[in-house]
Amino acid sequence: MLLATLPSIYAWTILAILVTGMYLFGAKRRRPVFPIVNKYPHDFLNQKANRQYIQNASTLITSGLNKHQSPVTIVIPNGQKIVLPSSLTGWVKTNKDLDHKKLVQHDFFAGFPGFDAQDALQHPNETLIGVIRTKLGQNDSTMEAMNASLAKAFRVLWGDGDGQWRIIDWHNDTMGIIAHAASSVFVGPEKADDGEWLEIVQGYVTAYFTAVGELHGYPSWSRSMVHWFLPNAAACRKYVSRARAIMNDVLQKRREEVKLAKLQGREGPEYNDALAWIQAASSGNEHAKTPEPEAGDFQLALAMAALFTTTEAFRQVLIHLAAKPDVVEALRSEVSKQIEQHGISVAATNNMVLLDSVMKESQRLSAAVVALERIAVKDTTLPDGTLIPRGSHITVDSTSLLDSSSYPNPLAFDAHRFLRKRQAGDKSNQFVQSGPDYSVFGGGRHICPGRFFAANEVKLALAHVLLKYDFRLAEGYESKNIRNGFYTIVDPMAKFEIKRRKPSLGEVLG
Ligand SMILES: *[C@@H]1O[C@H](CO)[C@@H](O)[C@H](O)[C@H]1NC(C)=O
Ligand SMILES: *[C@@H]1O[C@H](CO)[C@@H](O)[C@H](O)[C@H]1NC(C)=O
Ligand SMILES: *[C@@H]1O[C@H](CO)[C@@H](O)[C@H](O)[C@H]1NC(C)=O
Ligand SMILES: *[C@@H]1O[C@H](CO)[C@@H](O)[C@H](O)[C@H]1NC(C)=O
Ligand SMILES: *[C@@H]1O[C@H](CO)[C@@H](O)[C@H](O)[C@H]1NC(C)=O
Repeated sequence: MLLATLPSIYAWTILAILVTGMYLFGAKRRRPVFPIVNKYPHDFLNQKANRQYIQNASTLITSGLNKHQSPVTIVIPNGQKIVLPSSLTGWVKTNKDLDHKKLVQHDFFAGFPGFDAQDALQHPNETLIGVIRTKLGQNDSTMEAMNASLAKAFRVLWGDGDGQWRIIDWHNDTMGIIAHAASSVFVGPEKADDGEWLEIVQGYVTAYFTAVGELHGYPSWSRSMVHWFLPNAAACRKYVSRARAIMNDVLQKRREEVKLAKLQGREGPEYNDALAWIQAASSGNEHAKTPEPEAGDFQLALAMAALFTTTEAFRQVLIHLAAKPDVVEALRSEVSKQIEQHGISVAATNNMVLLDSVMKESQRLSAAVVALERIAVKDTTLPDGTLIPRGSHITVDSTSLLDSSSYPNPLAFDAHRFLRKRQAGDKSNQFVQSGPDYSVFGGGRHICPGRFFAANEVKLALAHVLLKYDFRLAEGYESKNIRNGFYTIVDPMAKFEIKRRKPSLGEVLG
C-alpha cells in the first residue's frame, strides 16, 4: 500500500518518523484504567486495533470520549495510551507529576552512541534550552543574518530563473532553505553556507529519525545491541564525530582570533550566534557527573529540534497557499509594506498579521489529533479522584481543532480566521500562542521554547518566496496530507512548481 506508492528514500524517512510517532508512547502492557476504544473480538494480535488506530484515530477518540463520558485508552502498535478530554488541558499543563522530557528521552534513545543530540538537548543543566529561551527569541541582529542566508539559499536552490515554470526538488529544497536560515543563527558565518556542514545537519536529522523508527521495530530488550548493526545508526555516529571535529576547529580558530586581537591591542571580534552563546552559557566543568556535551553535539541537537518541524510548517503553508492566489496577493502587499517600513526586523515580522494567521490556520489543519504527551512519573489523580498509575502515558484530545463548534467550516482553509479573532480582541490567536483549546506547541513548563524563533524564520522564508516567486501545484497533482494514527505530514512527494517573478518587489530581499 503506502510502501508501494512511495518509492523514494525520503518516503522511508517520513515513514520512519511516523512509525516513531506510533511507538512514541509505547508503554508496557497494563490493565487499562479507562475503556479501550479499539478493542475487537478475536483480535488477539491487535491487528485490527492497530489498523483502526492508523486509519481512524480521530474518530476513535471523539466517539470514544463521547460514548464513555470519561477518559479512554487507545491501543497503539507499541502499547497503549490514555487520551484525556480537552477539558483536562489545564490539569495536564500544571501537573508536576507528569513529564514530557522523560518520555522523549526514553523513546528517542538518549544515551546510545550517535544519538548524542538527544543527550545534548536533554542534559540536566538545560544549557541549550536556556539559550533557546533567552537568545533565540526576538532579536533583529539574528534576523539580518537570516535574511542574508535566505537570499543565498534561494539563489542557489531555486535560482534567478529564466522566466519559465519549473518543478522543484520538494523534499531537499524546502529542508535546505530552512537549514540555511537556521544555520546563519546556529553556527555563525564560518559554516552557515558551508556545503559539507549543511549536508551534515540535514543528513543527521534524517538518519537519526529513521534509526529511531527502525529501532522501535525491535523488541526493547534487543535495541541496545541492534543499533550497532543499523546503517542509519552507524551514519549518526559518523555525523556526530565529523560535527564535533568541525565545530572544535571553528572554536579553535575563534580563540586564535581573540588572542591575536589582544596581542595587537585591538578589540576582539564578537560572535553573535548559538555556537558562541552556548559556549558562554556552559559551565565548562569537565568533572561534573554528566559533563557538558561537545559543541558539535549541541549543534546537532539544535538541528534535530528545529529542522524537521519547522520545515514541515514551511511546507504546509506553501501547499495551502498554492491554491489561493488572492491570499498570496494580499500577503505580498503586507510583507513588502512591513519590510519597507521596518526593514528586516522583529517589528516587521510581528506586524505581518495576515501571514501569522495563515501560518496558524495551516498548522491547525495539519496538527496531530492529540497534544500534551506526558508520562506519569508518580501515581497521580484526576480532579475526579481517578488514579492514574505511575508509568502511564497520557495525552489530550485535540480533535476540536477540526470541530465545527470551535471552528466554523472547520475543514476549509480560511486565511483570515485567526486574524479576525485577533482583531476582535481575542488575545490567544497569534501563531506562537497557546489557548485553552490550542496546544500545538505544547503547554505549561514544557511549551516549545523555540516557537518564537521558528515563527520568525518561517515568516522570513515565506517573505522571500512571496516576493520573489510565483508558485503552484503541478497540473493534475492534488496534494494530500498523509495521516497516520495521531499524526499528519505533508505529502513528501508533492509536485510544486515555481517561476521567478520580475525583480521589482523581490529586490528588497536580495
Ligand atoms: C472508525 O471508528 C468508529 C468508532 O469506533 C467506527 O464506528 C467506524 O466504523 C470506524 N471507521 C472505519 C472506516 O473503520
Ligand atoms: C540582540 O543581540 C545582540 C548581540 O548579541 C545583543 O547585544 C542584544 O542585547 C540582543 N537584543 C535583545 C533584545 O535580546
Ligand atoms: C537530496 O539530498 C540528499 C542528501 O544531501 C542527496 O543524497 C540526494 O541526491 C538529493 N536528492 C536530489 C533529488 O537531489
Ligand atoms: C551543572 O550545573 C551545576 C550547578 O550549577 C554545576 O555544579 C555542574 O558542574 C554543571 N554541570 C556541568 C556538566 O557543567
Ligand atoms: C537581505 O539580504 C540580502 C542579501 O544579503 C540583501 O541584498 C538585502 O538588502 C537584505 N534585505 C534587507 C531588507 O535588509
